[in-house]
Amino acid sequence: MAKLWAGRTSGIIDAAADDFNSSIRFDSRMYREDILGSIAHAHMLGAKGIISENDMEAIVEGLGDILEGIEKGAIPIDPHAEDIHSFIEGELTRRIGEPGKRLHTARSRNDQVAQDIRLYLRGQCDQVSELLGKMCLTLCDMAGKYADTVMPGYTHMQRAQPVTFGHHLMAYAMMFIRDLGRIKDARTRMNVSPIGCCALAGTTYDTDRRMEAAELGFDGICMNSLDGVSDRDFCVELAAALALIMAHLSRFAEEIILWSSWEFRFVQLSEAYSTGSSIMPQKKNPDMAELARGKTGRVYGDLMALLTVLKGTPLAYNKDMQEDKEAIFDAFDTVAACLGVFTPMIATMKVNGENMRAAAAGGFINATDLADYLVGKGMPFRTAYKLVGEIVEECSEKGITLEDMPLDDYLMHSELFGEDLYKAIDIDECVKRRVSEGGPGGDSVSRQIKYVMELIDND
Ligand code: ARG
Repeated sequence: MAKLWAGRTSGIIDAAADDFNSSIRFDSRMYREDILGSIAHAHMLGAKGIISENDMEAIVEGLGDILEGIEKGAIPIDPHAEDIHSFIEGELTRRIGEPGKRLHTARSRNDQVAQDIRLYLRGQCDQVSELLGKMCLTLCDMAGKYADTVMPGYTHMQRAQPVTFGHHLMAYAMMFIRDLGRIKDARTRMNVSPIGCCALAGTTYDTDRRMEAAELGFDGICMNSLDGVSDRDFCVELAAALALIMAHLSRFAEEIILWSSWEFRFVQLSEAYSTGSSIMPQKKNPDMAELARGKTGRVYGDLMALLTVLKGTPLAYNKDMQEDKEAIFDAFDTVAACLGVFTPMIATMKVNGENMRAAAAGGFINATDLADYLVGKGMPFRTAYKLVGEIVEECSEKGITLEDMPLDDYLMHSELFGEDLYKAIDIDECVKRRVSEGGPGGDSVSRQIKYVMELIDND
């Protein structure tokens, strides 16, 4: 097919170069945005008298038919076309003739593609936001259910202090609610229209950029034409937000994998979200979590690719920018696929509260509470810390827990000990007494749930 840019040159290009140059493979998914953008452009050209009313109507009708045709599968997108913009313009002209050739007045593919990506990514932001909202809702729901399920909290993967499973889940809800905020912020910054910047230097026609932007739901317009066509910051920002979602999913995945191991047995994944082994009949593998962890690298790679594409490209448009789409589309596709599987995997997993409780009973995770008990009796914390360290060592040698040690033995270490020490180191009590804001105590977890739910509702 003749190139729409066959002007100075014949437009006949080497077949391999043609294929290399083409972006239709990955930009055809923006057909809808491209058509809606062109309809808005025709409306503006008509309203400003740049094209006639009749031409405007013919264009709008023709584009509407093409949209319907593509959606119904009646118009196949030509895989040899240069890109979606030239395919649709070519198809329009083939159908309606002369008026189709007037559509590209006061417009360039440079501002057109920049607008299409913004429009398309708006929808992608909404989809990922919805998935993040569902994840947060699931976590809040489960956190309420497991608000009293005591488990060990870890540092350095060593049992540290008691928390609850509900509190642990809410830590992830906090990460995902921040992710939601980041996507929302980036979407707001992205939602300005570059159309009318034209190739790079605006136009001599009396256009109305704001009218066109408003029809497409933009909050405003790009204020500098050179920046408008060459800005891909929003792709980088969004890829960074998506990379962070993957970081969070990957940390979560790592815990799910550990927790579902025989060594932990804190959770059991539902059969619908685990796989077996082709040789070991006993296996139930957390493949979904592992894949999410593995795919994190891809999204980090997408972010790096985007940053590197922008580095060193002079103003304004350069063909390097065509490389933006595969990276940002892949990042969105990957995050949506991961969240789509991860949330129901979490919602359906079986939580083994007894094993969590048993793990919390070992590992001396109430040692800090014992030190705090002595502080309550007047001992300086540093002295109490050292003394409890010695007691832990003694218990460990004897193979007993702090709860097992008789009062007489405690009294050998300090006269401050009394019968009430056993209540102070009771694991459930230890959690309940952690009343500081943001802590694992029941009231605090309820406040956390409320906080996250309110943020989702306001979204
Ligand atoms: N396919 C191109 C892209 O994705 C469209 C813009 C082409 N503009 C140009 N002057 N060649 O960036």
